[in-house]
Order: sequence, then structure tokens, then C-alpha cells
Amino acid sequence: MEEDLIGIKNTALSFILEAEDLDNLEETKLQFLGRSGKLTLAMKEITKVPVEKRKEFGILLNEIKQTIEDAIETQKSKLKGQKLNRTVEKIDVTNPGIKPTLGHLHLVTQAIEEITSIFEKIGFEKLRYPEVEWDWYAFEALNFPDNHPARDDWETFFIKGKSDPKKGPMLLTPHTSSGQIREMERKQKPPIRMLNIAKCYRRQSDVSHSPMFHQFEGLVVDKDISITHLKGTLDYFVKSWFGEKRQSRIRPYHFQFTEPSFEVDVSCGVCLGKGCKLCKAGWLEMGGAGMVHPNVLKAGGIDPDKYTGFAFGWGVERVLMMREGLKIDDLRILYSNNLEFLQQF
Ligand code: PHE
Repeated sequence: MEEDLIGIKNTALSFILEAEDLDNLEETKLQFLGRSGKLTLAMKEITKVPVEKRKEFGILLNEIKQTIEDAIETQKSKLKGQKLNRTVEKIDVTNPGIKPTLGHLHLVTQAIEEITSIFEKIGFEKLRYPEVEWDWYAFEALNFPDNHPARDDWETFFIKGKSDPKKGPMLLTPHTSSGQIREMERKQKPPIRMLNIAKCYRRQSDVSHSPMFHQFEGLVVDKDISITHLKGTLDYFVKSWFGEKRQSRIRPYHFQFTEPSFEVDVSCGVCLGKGCKLCKAGWLEMGGAGMVHPNVLKAGGIDPDKYTGFAFGWGVERVLMMREGLKIDDLRILYSNNLEFLQQF
């Protein structure tokens, strides 16, 4: 009887070791420990064992059962490990990986970079000046009379605090023209070819205005600078930015700091100036420009009898929307951090 049991144990152990997968192992388990398994049947034989040997036989039976169960458990974890390894090995390295989401520059930043490179090609120097500025640079030195409506705090954000006895109160730059005087002070002597792209702030917020927006301002001061230089620069920008077929046009206008002053138009991209449903008169309004006022040159420390200059200042968002033909019903979406919108550019 005992020998039978040892035989069952050895067969069981070798079967267990040879089991190639978990199903195989489960079958072996049933074969030995199941209801009609070999060991189970052998256990029933206990009644045939003489009474005095039963205890010993029982102990042996239990030991064998334990050994088989342990062996099954060990083999089970071994097979599970192999299964895991096999799945790892199965990874197909030629499969495309998971791409991390990539961001890109904001469309206004993209526009600023492009505008910069257009003007750098014709010798403009890209500069920036304070956006928290004295009234002097934003208005006074630009020939604005004391009672000009832009100085009213309904248009301009003023900063609380002490005013400077000479430069007046502090404010957030309502236009990039404040850079004109800053640049004249910095350079002291012409030639000046400044491109100032900066944030501007005005007390306005509706579907076509955001309280913060960007302007790009050009200033050229040298001997014998005339309107033809201004017109040539405008044409160059319009063709570089909107395309070769487009043209610029200047119309008389009024600004405090330029004389004469102009409003600059660009020919419509659909009818090229003939007039169509989109533009009505063939031209689209772009922004302001003019010949630097002698008072402004004087305020910047430059002799208006020796030097002349031109300046222009346009909205970055405006030229961007004009070119892309973006039909945005609320301009403020540009600064709302809305990814669904921004990811399109
Ligand atoms: N600063 C003016 C504006 O904000 C634009 C301008 C700049 C006009 C330079 C003439 C010359 O509207």
C-alpha cells in the first residue's frame, strides 16, 4: 500500500513539472486530487488498512497530498510568470507609439514673428519698451493737447500712484507710438529704423475689441525721408503679408503726432480693388500712418529742420484677421485659452 502511494506521488510530481500551461496543470490536479483522482481513491482504501497502521498511513497520505498541492502551486506561479513574459516578448516594436501631445506658438505670436522677419529684411530693428509707461511718452510728447479724449480714463488705464512732476501719471500703453519718443531718446541721433511690437491696453471689451491687444509700430527718421519712403514701405509690407497682387493706398486722416496723417487701406483680396460684395468699395481699412510731426521730433531731442521721418501703427490681430479671413464672432476668443480654437492654427 505504501509503495502504491509513493508511486502516485512521484507520477503526480513529474506530471506537474511537465505541465506546459495552466490548463494542463489543472487537468493534472483533477487527475490526482479530484473526486475520482488517484490519490482520492487511494485515501478511500484506508478502511482496508489494519487498524494499528491506520494512523501512520493517514499521516503519510496527508504528507503526500500536501506535497502534491505545494508542487501544483509552485508550478502555477512559474507558468503565470512565463505567460507574462511571453506577452512582454510579443510587443511589436514596429507599431506606432503613443504620441505625446505637442503644443505650438499662439497664432498671435506666430503673426508677430512673421511681421518681425518681414521688417527685419528691410533693415528695421525690433525693439520693445515699457508697457507700464508715463503719460509723457504716450501722450504729452506726442503732441496731444491736455483735453484730448484719449487721455480721459474712459479710454486709457491709469495706474494709481504718484505722478512724476515732468512725465505726469503712469498708465498702460494705449498704443505703441509711445515707443517713438523712447527710441529717439535711446538713439539720440538718426538714422532710426524702429519696429516696436507690443501689448496695448484700452478700456474696451466687446465682440470686436479686447482690453489687451497688440500693435506693431514702425518709425523711420533720417535726412530727406519723404512720403514716398512711407508709401514704398507700406507696399512692401502689404505684398509680403497679404500677397504679391495686393496694393496699399493712403487716404488723408488726422493724428496728433503726424503731419500729414493717413489712413492706410489694402486692396480687397477677392476683387483686387474693383469693388465686390465683401469689401464694397474695393479697399479694406488697415490702420494709421503719417510723417512724424515736428513737435514730436523736438520732444524726442531731434532737430526737425535737419531730419524728417515717417511712422505707422497697426493692430497685429487686425492684420491677422484680415489675412486669414477668420470669421470670428468674438475677437476675445483669441485670449480665452480655448484649445479647440487654438489647435486649428
Ligand atoms: N497710434 C495710432 C493708433 O493707435 C496709429 C498710428 C501710429 C498713426 C503711427 C500714425 C502713426 O491708432
